[in-house]
Amino acid sequence: MIYVKDNLFALHTETVSYVFRATDSLHLEHLHFGRKITVDDRSIPALMEKQEFLTGGLNSYDEEHRSLSLENYMLEMSSYGKGDIREPFVEIIYEDGSSTSDFLYDGYKVMHEKPEYETLPGSYSDYGRSEQLVIYLRERYSGIVIELHYYVYERCDVICRSAKLRNESIQTVNLKRLMSAQVDFDDSDFIFTHFNGAWIREMNRVDNAVTAGRIVNSSYTGTSSSRANPFVMLSRRGTSQNFGECYGFNLIYSGNHYEAVDVGSFSKLRFVNGINPQGFSYVVGPEEYFEAPESVMSFSKEGFNGLSRNMHEFVREHIIRGTWKYKERPVLLNSWEAAYFDINEEKLFSLAEAGAEVGIELFVMDDGWFGERNDDTSSLGDWEVNEKKLPGGIKGIADKIKQLGLKFGIWVEPEMVNVKSRLYESHPEWVIEIPDRNHSEGRNQRILDMGNKDVQNYVIETMDRLFSSADISYVKWDMNRTFTDYYSKNLPPERQGEMAHRYVVGLYRCIKTLTGRFPDILFEGCASGGNRFDLGILCYFPQIWASDNTDAMCRAEIQEGYSYGYPMLALGAHVSSCPNHQTLRSTPLETRFNIAAFALCGYECNLCEMSENELDAIREQIELYKEWRSVLQFGDFYRHDGTGAGNVSWTCVGKDKKYAAGLLFQGLAQPNMPDKRFVACGLRPDAKYHFYNRKFKVMEEFVSMRVDTENEDYHVYGDVLMNCGVRLSQGFAASGYNERVRVFPDFASRIYFMEEE
Ligand code: GLA
Repeated sequence: MIYVKDNLFALHTETVSYVFRATDSLHLEHLHFGRKITVDDRSIPALMEKQEFLTGGLNSYDEEHRSLSLENYMLEMSSYGKGDIREPFVEIIYEDGSSTSDFLYDGYKVMHEKPEYETLPGSYSDYGRSEQLVIYLRERYSGIVIELHYYVYERCDVICRSAKLRNESIQTVNLKRLMSAQVDFDDSDFIFTHFNGAWIREMNRVDNAVTAGRIVNSSYTGTSSSRANPFVMLSRRGTSQNFGECYGFNLIYSGNHYEAVDVGSFSKLRFVNGINPQGFSYVVGPEEYFEAPESVMSFSKEGFNGLSRNMHEFVREHIIRGTWKYKERPVLLNSWEAAYFDINEEKLFSLAEAGAEVGIELFVMDDGWFGERNDDTSSLGDWEVNEKKLPGGIKGIADKIKQLGLKFGIWVEPEMVNVKSRLYESHPEWVIEIPDRNHSEGRNQRILDMGNKDVQNYVIETMDRLFSSADISYVKWDMNRTFTDYYSKNLPPERQGEMAHRYVVGLYRCIKTLTGRFPDILFEGCASGGNRFDLGILCYFPQIWASDNTDAMCRAEIQEGYSYGYPMLALGAHVSSCPNHQTLRSTPLETRFNIAAFALCGYECNLCEMSENELDAIREQIELYKEWRSVLQFGDFYRHDGTGAGNVSWTCVGKDKKYAAGLLFQGLAQPNMPDKRFVACGLRPDAKYHFYNRKFKVMEEFVSMRVDTENEDYHVYGDVLMNCGVRLSQGFAASGYNERVRVFPDFASRIYFMEEE
């Protein structure tokens, strides 16, 4: 709900309020973001900052407002040069070289439709109307306008913000930064959490105690990046999974991003997020505009799980769209870890055949099928089939796979080119490189200048031809290097700072067009795993390959990291062979499945080389996953506290709370620690559940026999499961074994099911 009275603006969701006002000096004072409050215009005197006398060392805003210091004010947006020295929202260089801006309130509008952005993807609503508030600010001297847009998503307690700069002046300006959101808090007693990492080590949670100065989470890889995901949190000290106040922020953007926490001299905390200003500049001439991406903001008083629930619901309802929004995702088998580049029709067919026998639904031919692609040194850009490997072409292999009763999918990396390719030879001007300088290399490939319309059209038409050439049901859209040597041969020198953003906008145009032309294809985003796992991509591709790391133990942590901000419905997770190709670790096959089952479960191993025992186990896994996937893919996901380092425990609860699945995963076994409890989350306290464990054979890897798991079987109320937990069978502790003992070595795991009776 949006409430506007006089100069007060209040945005309310079911449990959250966001309040600000326009002051007499025509600045926007931020008043509150957090628990829901009841306010009207008469609340202003109680909430507003009181400044009677300027304290020493501060600058007053102007002659007329001698006691107003912008340095010690909670502002809804801050510009540069009028006394506020904290992180600015906007920075502009004017024609005369000056960089001071003075944006002042100039009216508002409430709208009941959310217009589409011209250049960027955004949130949407297909239930009810989405309310929008637009605030207009005008720069006092130049006349440049900034629109602040606010969208309210009541049910998931999310408010989105974005900004648009319209140049209504007569001068051409250089925009150095335009953030998407700025939120000022009255105190700085927070923990700033971000998720950093690297290739095959994505989404490690990092908690920074905020004290003074700045903490920055940002990417300059050209992508949202595995180094620093754009999802971040601010929480009160002591916040746990289910208790405490926390804020979450994300950005609907796939390029260089920036999230900063800045504590000024008066201990007020400012948070901003938006496009990374590093290396960025944008020339905006008269009558031109610039759109900043949408920022997503949420608050929960129910701990990190509460915040995640909001974010998950928001992504499922207001980001993911199209045919696959509510459709169960198929169990796929991907050829990459089974064969790498060494593929041919016979090999792929045998693999698919083995897949069909265990219940796989979709077969994906990964890299290696085009040009002279026998390793990663050549052929990106030449999207024509290698007929030595696939004599019947794409259609030939696709038809054969279909005859097995499977759907067929394909891998592409359209934004890239190898120097060793026909495309590079014919269009060197399409490549991001600085002419006559040496180029830094990444995976032997270079990046196409997606900001160039000709490149976009080439990508669209080449992919259109490919996707139409056979019955293709799935596309893995990869992007395997980060940016260096930022330069567009298509832009004049003064516009080179626009290149990285124009790339993202161009990419969006391509994937919007292609997903529009092929609405039934299931697209999966990928960038060496999680190098572009963000809400911008999820507006077009309903799922993303979360990491090239398929080790079960690493995956437990990586998936848990993603789960803070993203629903499991967005995460590709595959069971692979052991020793694992990334860590050389061996983990039980059942654990590899148990972890993958809590996301979009697929397989990526050579089924043709597996034993009958393993294939039987996989057949049972897939059957079980299909039975439970509506809960596992679309349910509410909860992390559990107190699991200890290296271990995870989760509950995933179906929408109607009638069915739930729980996971217990152990990293390294501790000797003589036989007791464990499983405590669930998110159930109906007054409903009675049948709690039981998934039965499978354990120990195969350790002794030559397979033994049945212990039997857990209880009938208890939801409040027992959540507030007390179930004491599990005694774990193995070197002093005896029978069929009631829980065999729980290193990397062991269990799935528990809960069904309402
Ligand atoms: C990237 C992807 C992998 C695989 C390879 C193919 O690394 O993340 O899953 O597709 O490319 O080259």
